[in-house]
Amino acid sequence: MKKVLLLAVLIASLATAKESSRFGEALHGTYQYKDFQRSAYCRQCHREIYYQWQQSMMAQAYTHHWDEIEYFNLAVEHAKRNPKFKPVADGCNGCHTPFAYLAGDTPPPRPSKKSMANESVSCDVCHTISGYNEKLLYNFSYYVSPGRLKYGNRGGTNSPAHELKKSDAHGKSQFCANCHNEQSPWGVWVKSTYTEWLEGPYSKEGVQCHTCHMPPAPGKRAITEKKNYPDVRQHLFHGAHVQSKIRGAIDVLIQPSAKELEPGDRVVFTVQLFNQKCGHKVPSGSVEDRMLYLQVEAIDANGKRYHLPVDRKGFDGEEYTISSSAKAYQDFAEMMDVPEGFDGLPRDGITPGNRIFRMPYFTEKGIMTICQWNTAKLGVDYRIGPRETKVETFTWTVPDTIPEGTVRITATLNYRLLVKPVADFLKVPEEESRDRLINRGETTIEVFY
Ligand code: HEC
Ligand code: HEC
Ligand code: HEC
Ligand code: HEC
Ligand code: HEC
Repeated sequence: MKKVLLLAVLIASLATAKESSRFGEALHGTYQYKDFQRSAYCRQCHREIYYQWQQSMMAQAYTHHWDEIEYFNLAVEHAKRNPKFKPVADGCNGCHTPFAYLAGDTPPPRPSKKSMANESVSCDVCHTISGYNEKLLYNFSYYVSPGRLKYGNRGGTNSPAHELKKSDAHGKSQFCANCHNEQSPWGVWVKSTYTEWLEGPYSKEGVQCHTCHMPPAPGKRAITEKKNYPDVRQHLFHGAHVQSKIRGAIDVLIQPSAKELEPGDRVVFTVQLFNQKCGHKVPSGSVEDRMLYLQVEAIDANGKRYHLPVDRKGFDGEEYTISSSAKAYQDFAEMMDVPEGFDGLPRDGITPGNRIFRMPYFTEKGIMTICQWNTAKLGVDYRIGPRETKVETFTWTVPDTIPEGTVRITATLNYRLLVKPVADFLKVPEEESRDRLINRGETTIEVFY
């Protein structure tokens, strides 16, 4: 009798061990919504942390306008027309609304239905993650263990609402990698923020994602607690959508090859772009959407502006890093109804001749795409790595018509989270495609006759 009981216990514990070691696509439909708690419940005691998190993009990972448009109008539609894409379209939810993925509710109800899917990447998502597959670390390779037990960085016994377990997994960049590294169905790394960090200088110095995105600061962890901590993890998760986070992320410096010139003289302006603030490349994350571009202009003594095109360097794939009137994104025709005669959209939507820091994504047919799930290969990687300095030159012949006096030369580095022609075509609010200033450098020359 005793033996049978022991065996039953053994089998049961094996079963739970197996359950909590599921990860990735094997997690689909293994739980129910009622196994998880809403963030509003945690707010009762963790007020500061709640309001920090609520302002972050992770709190809106399912509800944000552009996410809704890309998921429902492109990914879900693509999967309807080509069932090959069904698992990858369901998989969006494994990172953007894990409760819905775990509940097998895919596609989830639209955000306007205010279902549990709207919780996005919430308190109980991260604090019921009990570990992850150390060998994979991409495409939601986390283990979950929902319930009263929450996993955190210290552990503790004084919470009336839950039990706590100290988890070393939470403090490491690997924790973030489960969602911030992504592979397409072609095995292409379409998101690699973690790998960029790992290969860069910060990982060697022990600087984690948390150091910059969850900085420690003095305070309390819960309103019911008396104890003050010197280092409460701030749940800011501030990224590309926060102006103060991107402002100054890259230094922009510019100098001329000569100071005093006559009309007809040639001058070379050299711009240094130093990534002093980011632990990964810029752009990172949703690189397929992003465009970082440098625009250089001369402004003469009368206020007239001259646009200076960047000098070519001659590397493979450079054409994708200089703005032009080229077209791209023809693959929209595979996933949505497009106007008759649709032959793509303008690739860049900015003044031609500017340097763009980006990495283009291509479909199987070689079409440049913003759909990472439709990506079969990557193009040239011309982004600015952590602590890397890129140098660009601009050669200019001083025009004959220019007035005497001081000419100001400005080098403006702007960030667009989504290329504008795509945003306009898909009716994404301007918020996503407007210019966000990262930095501006300036120098002068004197024109004499
Ligand atoms: C369960 C998956 C998941 C985990 C774990 C996760 N993230 Fe995220 N994160 C996301 C998703 C999805 C988004 C995109 C939100 C959106 O739709 O804009 C995001 C967005 C962000 C952003 C905002 C980017 C922007 O463009 O503004 C930052 C910063 C960020 N995460 C940092 C982290 C850090 C640091 C960690 C680890 C402590 C982490 N994340 C762990 C899924 C996750
Ligand atoms: C009734 C109050 C209350 C509610 C509700 C509550 N907590 Fe807590 N929580 C606490 C207290 C108090 C502590 C500090 C416990 C200690 O230090 O022993 C704490 C600590 C934590 C920690 C720190 C763990 C660590 O290892 O450092 C995490 C994570 C946490 N809570 C997550 C949550 C989540 C997720 C929810 C919602 C599902 C939640 N809490 C709801 C009171 C609460
Ligand atoms: C994207 C994942 C993520 C989300 C979402 C998230 N947390 Fe955390 N939280 C963490 C990580 C990671 C740590 C530990 C950081 C470390 O070890 O440096 C942490 C730490 C904590 C702590 C302990 C802080 C300390 O320094 O003792 C509390 C309390 C907490 N979280 C509560 C919450 C609550 C409440 C929410 C929702 C409002 C929430 N968390 C949302 C990832 C997350
Ligand atoms: C040394 C500080 C630092 C470290 C370390 C760091 N980041 Fe960042 N991160 C930044 C800054 C600054 C930005 C804003 C500039 C930008 O958007 O690229 C940023 C932006 C981001 C973005 C938005 C990227 C974009 O352009 O859309 C994500 C996502 C992100 N970080 C996640 C992470 C993750 C995950 C890690 C760890 C693997 C990490 N960060 C490590 C400083 C850091
Ligand atoms: C492996 C996890 C993961 C998967 C799978 C995933 N995403 Fe994301 N997604 C993220 C992260 C992390 C970010 C934030 C990156 C950044 O801000 O640069 C993000 C950002 C986005 C954004 C916002 C981009 C912006 O401009 O801020 C959209 C839209 C989006 N994802 C749609 C999708 C769709 C549609 C799918 C499925 C085809 C999908 N995602 C699959 C992790 C994932």
